[in-house]
Amino acid sequence: MASSAAEVTTPERVFEETIERDQRIEPRDWMPEGYRKTLVRQVAQHAHSEIIGMQPEGAWIARAPSLRRKAILLAKVQDEAGHGLYLYSAAETLGADRADLTAKLISGRQKYSSIFNYPTLNFADIGVIGWLVDGAAICNQVPLCRSSYGPYARAMVRICKEESFHQRQGYELLLTMMRGTEAQRDMVRDAVDRWWWPSLMMFGPPDGDSPNTRQSMAWKVKRHTNDELRQKFVDMTVPQADALGVSLPDPELRWNADRGAHDFGEPDWAELKRVISGDGACNAERVERRRTAHEQGEWVREAAAAHAAKRAARQEATA
Ligand SMILES: [Fe+2]
Ligand SMILES: [Fe+2]
Repeated sequence: MASSAAEVTTPERVFEETIERDQRIEPRDWMPEGYRKTLVRQVAQHAHSEIIGMQPEGAWIARAPSLRRKAILLAKVQDEAGHGLYLYSAAETLGADRADLTAKLISGRQKYSSIFNYPTLNFADIGVIGWLVDGAAICNQVPLCRSSYGPYARAMVRICKEESFHQRQGYELLLTMMRGTEAQRDMVRDAVDRWWWPSLMMFGPPDGDSPNTRQSMAWKVKRHTNDELRQKFVDMTVPQADALGVSLPDPELRWNADRGAHDFGEPDWAELKRVISGDGACNAERVERRRTAHEQGEWVREAAAAHAAKRAARQEATA
């Protein structure tokens, strides 16, 4: 913050010192308006991603090939609903209104992760989403457990525990399919080819093209840049692909001994921009489905509010 010592008010100094000492900012603490707005945007976008993210996998619950796979997938999709609810609650501690956030999602004024605008075409997609998409989410989210905003950091601790189950169930499904028939192996290869690049794009645009990163890092809302996290994800995933026996669709992917990291090709950033701006394969369908679910839930919200009012009136009468 570029204010002179004379201008620095006490609450500002307390805020800055709390961040410097790596302690948490809590809902009742003073915070700069920019910090609050950045967090509301990030937490809301994260919450929306969890909720919209139920759709591509939810589409396969009724088509799961066995009772075991159905039970696993149901539990996983249900976890994502829970993640969305923790995160909406975290956003509410910043003064955001949940109904308003939903309205912004449905009207396209707030975004969700670009990854959920790709279709799930075969059951291997369920495995690949668990392995790569939840894997990328883990890379993104583990550092957020140390985010400077307390309610967000604490929500991330719970969420990350469940994400690691998500990733392992996906990987186990793919291992099973790779040990199966040639047709099953083809399904896995096809799914990996389709999801690899979109997974790399989950970390956002390259650092040079990510205007909010610097401020978010200074506030310790974000702990690593997009490119750092992308690199970490690639380095983590390559040996897992080897163990699985699938190749990743990038001819430039190779170990660089000097850097002690993998070199890899450039994702198609024009595609990312297109998908974020609403022109992906499934954007319209995802938002429409969310809108319908929200409208169909109207009577539940009304009934819950009426019940709460009745109970409050009854309590007041007995008091
Ligand atoms: Fe999640
Ligand atoms: Fe997940």
